[in-house]
Amino acid sequence: MTPLKNDTFLRALARQPTPHTPIWLMRQAGRYLPEYNATRKRAGSFLGLAKNPDYATEVTLQPLERFALDAAILFSDILTVPDAMGLGLYFADGEGPRFHHPLRDERAIKALHVPDPHTELRYVMEAVSSIRRALDGRVPLIGFSGSPYTLACYMIEGGGSDDFRTVKTMLYSRPDLLHHLLRITAQAVIDYLNAQIIAGAQAVMIFDTWGGNLTSAGYAEFSLAYLQQVVAGLKREHNGERIPSIVFTKGGGGWLESMADLGCDALGIDWSTDLALARQRVGARVALQGNLDPAALFGSEATLRSEARRVLDAFGVGPGHVFNLGHGISQFTAPEQVAVLVDEVHTYSKRQRTS
Ligand code: CP3
Repeated sequence: MTPLKNDTFLRALARQPTPHTPIWLMRQAGRYLPEYNATRKRAGSFLGLAKNPDYATEVTLQPLERFALDAAILFSDILTVPDAMGLGLYFADGEGPRFHHPLRDERAIKALHVPDPHTELRYVMEAVSSIRRALDGRVPLIGFSGSPYTLACYMIEGGGSDDFRTVKTMLYSRPDLLHHLLRITAQAVIDYLNAQIIAGAQAVMIFDTWGGNLTSAGYAEFSLAYLQQVVAGLKREHNGERIPSIVFTKGGGGWLESMADLGCDALGIDWSTDLALARQRVGARVALQGNLDPAALFGSEATLRSEARRVLDAFGVGPGHVFNLGHGISQFTAPEQVAVLVDEVHTYSKRQRTS
């Protein structure tokens, strides 16, 4: 394999010094880019894009052609795993993801199987190897999965939800059943991420988008415990290279100390947490990734630049920071603003290192 031309992202995750703070953006390949919308139109749908390795490669590289981003992320979705478990993923226009067969009773949950990623999710592994070839060592490729709890939320609710009433009802009435589902899903996530690593993912990120809807005790029991199983089951090395892992619990700012004990290399931080305090609390145990408010991209250029500097100043000098948004980029973002952000992060963080 070609050696990496830009390894700042991997070095920052290893808490080693870098010439600038590396930056990538959650959902960096997406609807805010006209070229993404054009490819999506050709593919016919989001799933048509994600399930075709050539299209997935094309859209993964689109943001890198425009912006000097320091990492690429596999173009796929966290819901490919429940889809492979037989739930039947589809996207109703303007409604977000939905399942034809949400898990509603004990029988459906007990009948679940752990999918074989090499067959049932083969299109994802093909996308990973195709993207690695196309990147040709430009920047590292991030693979990803949803967390067991976040996947369970979608599987039980059948889609997004405002109040997570169905999953919470199960949590408080049949916790045994929820635990059964989480155990199976955790194994599915481990197998899925390890297959991505073998196919060429150079780091992996676990999105626990809904962990923040739990109580502290609930988080420990229903999300953190399974994140721990996943991290413990991950391949640590491939072809002699270390494969770092990032865990992101949106709304998890209250639990950073216990998350830092997961054994992962970095924690994703949403915008509600002060990065300076986060760093104090976890010390040098993990690197931190975040945490600009995605809405800052709607501000003026001057405000966007100063908000970016605020995040860099909050982390302060010293290794172990990957710049990112506190959640995915909005589809209403002007692409020119992303260019401004990347420029500010690179320029200002270089200056931080020399002053
Ligand atoms: O970051 C990237 O560029 C890689 C691609 C990526 C997508 N989804 C593409 C996508 C990643 C990492 C995800 C993860 C994902 N998917 C999460 C976790 C991260 C988060 O945002 O919290 C979740 C919860 C999902 C589930 C999901 N998929 C939702 C809620 C939606 C609808 C979102 C919306 O804005 O309407 C999707 C669809 C989806 N996944 C899109 C993209 C680019 C938009 C689909 C389209 O083109 O219509």
